[in-house]
Amino acid sequence: MKIECLGILTSGGDSPGMNAAVRAVTRTAIYNGMAVKGIMRGYKGLVTGEVEPLHTQNVSNIIQQGGTILKTARCQEFMTAEGRATAYETMRREKIDALVVIGGDGSLTGARIFAQEFDIPIVGIPGTIDNDLFGTDTTIGYDTALNTIMEAVDKIRDTASSHERLFFVEVMGRSAGFLALNGALAVGAEAAIIPEIATEVDQLEELIDNGFRKSKNSSIVLVAESELTGGAMGLAARVKEEYPEYDVRVTILGHIQRGGSPSASDRILASRMGEAAVNALLEGQRNVMVGIQNGELDYVPFAKAIRNIKPIESELLNTVKILSI
Ligand code: F6P
Repeated sequence: MKIECLGILTSGGDSPGMNAAVRAVTRTAIYNGMAVKGIMRGYKGLVTGEVEPLHTQNVSNIIQQGGTILKTARCQEFMTAEGRATAYETMRREKIDALVVIGGDGSLTGARIFAQEFDIPIVGIPGTIDNDLFGTDTTIGYDTALNTIMEAVDKIRDTASSHERLFFVEVMGRSAGFLALNGALAVGAEAAIIPEIATEVDQLEELIDNGFRKSKNSSIVLVAESELTGGAMGLAARVKEEYPEYDVRVTILGHIQRGGSPSASDRILASRMGEAAVNALLEGQRNVMVGIQNGELDYVPFAKAIRNIKPIESELLNTVKILSI
């Protein structure tokens, strides 16, 4: 089937570099003779019919901008069969033959169901700061978020060491500890508390038992925001109760991690993945996510990217521990 018109949307939590990906998809598609339409607010725009033509100049000067010019949303309606049927009507009315979806786990799950129900060619691009998609070493936005964490925690370290305090710094990653673990390495934190091993050990107890802070004038622990870890607030409350000798403070970095101009790595990744997504469709690929493994781009079936849990290198927790003695 010849693709005359390509639709593109960004969905779920935004991530720095999404705009660079929108630019790359738009320009590669136009270069290959397709018309391009931008769907506003993720799947919501497909349901409500908010679709705008994208020309090459519409994506000028966005490679350096955080956020997404297409806006994004987490759309409840698209989770229902009626919502998806309405979305399909929009596709037919707008004569959109194929879709590129930029987003995380939830967005690609929606893409997979939609593609199966209506036999639409869809290619996904992993855009999430969480880096939690299987089949790709990294996702668009992860590197920028890590750098944001690094800059913020470097500042916290100054005050933590002046006051000789223990800081719990909460970072994003609802169900994945990549930001907490690699953030901890990048800032020389004393520990990272991550959801992946939360059910195996009591990480706080282990931390204190290992005698952290004995020879230190400050301690920083990065905590992934997750019910499984208890979050930074939960851990701080426990320390105050169980180990009152520590002077504890909490910083929750929050949505600052999702904003900002994308790093060079994220811009390059987004540009390469954007081009590859259009090439995938031209090659007749469908229901795949573009991934990168050992520097090589690859196509990963949606089913694999979504169903499998991306393994975290939990041995790096030991590296954090060794390097913080
Ligand atoms: O999935 C991306 C993410 O930033 C998570 O790390 C975080 O837990 C969540 O989104 C926050 O979502 P919201 O912006 O809807 O509060």
